[in-house]
Amino acid sequence: MQIHSPIPDLRLALRKRGRVVFVPTMGNLHAGHIALMTAARTHGDTVVASIFVNRLQFGPSDDFDLYPRTLQEDCDKLAAAGVDLLFAPTESDLYPEPQQYHVEPPESQNQLDGEFRPGHFRGVATVVLKLFNIVQPQAALFGKKDYQQLMVLRNMTRQLALPIEIIGGETVRADDGLALSSRNGYLSAAERAEAPRLQRLLQHIGTAIGAGETDFARLERDATAELDQHGWKTDYVAVRRQADLQLPEAGGKHALVVLAASRLGAARLIDNLEIDLPDGR
Ligand code: PAF
Repeated sequence: MQIHSPIPDLRLALRKRGRVVFVPTMGNLHAGHIALMTAARTHGDTVVASIFVNRLQFGPSDDFDLYPRTLQEDCDKLAAAGVDLLFAPTESDLYPEPQQYHVEPPESQNQLDGEFRPGHFRGVATVVLKLFNIVQPQAALFGKKDYQQLMVLRNMTRQLALPIEIIGGETVRADDGLALSSRNGYLSAAERAEAPRLQRLLQHIGTAIGAGETDFARLERDATAELDQHGWKTDYVAVRRQADLQLPEAGGKHALVVLAASRLGAARLIDNLEIDLPDGR
């Protein structure tokens, strides 16, 4: 696997590479990332990964300084996964001058994580557009665990007419259902044992909706109360339309997704569950 840090080196290495498939990451790679790398291989000729902890998407009280940086282990994992090129820029490679132009996601995304992490999606969209311009891939993969992020990036790509296919990768989970995340490393042993409750509650909501429950607000309230009883601090549990993450209309025929973000100790965990109603209820 080739590793490039300066942008001109990467551009040179990417000449005549056929269809380039790109997987941007912030490193500290786990099996979820590796599943994206493996899937990327089936979508093109050259798989490019990037590792960059993007300051722009962290708020002042977020974990930018704490965020685990494990470049050597990550390189070993990417090489073993058959990734062709790694782009691992330094901060001054990517931001040689203060970034003054930004991608501003629409007002409709100032909800869910957009509400609780102001400026987060602006930072994500800006760095991803910049990475897209550097790598110039034909396809890019993002995990569905960051469901709203995937939607913001899909919409950005479509609205700005970028010639890039955006592909969502399924969430990879531990045996007990916890979605893999770099932030799981912040959990103590007791918190790690508690953490699968989040996905269990989403499953419970999915089952209730599948059985005909239509009082989504009550399901959201009950799940929040149960989390809070077990020491979590919940930002949101929300049943939304899969298509645009807006509130479902009463009696509407929408494919739904339930999304949640809650803090357990030092970790802010997010997860979601798609609910496809077979009868389109
Ligand atoms: O999902 C992530 O790891 C990051 O938000 C991304 C897409 C690499 C942008 O920094």
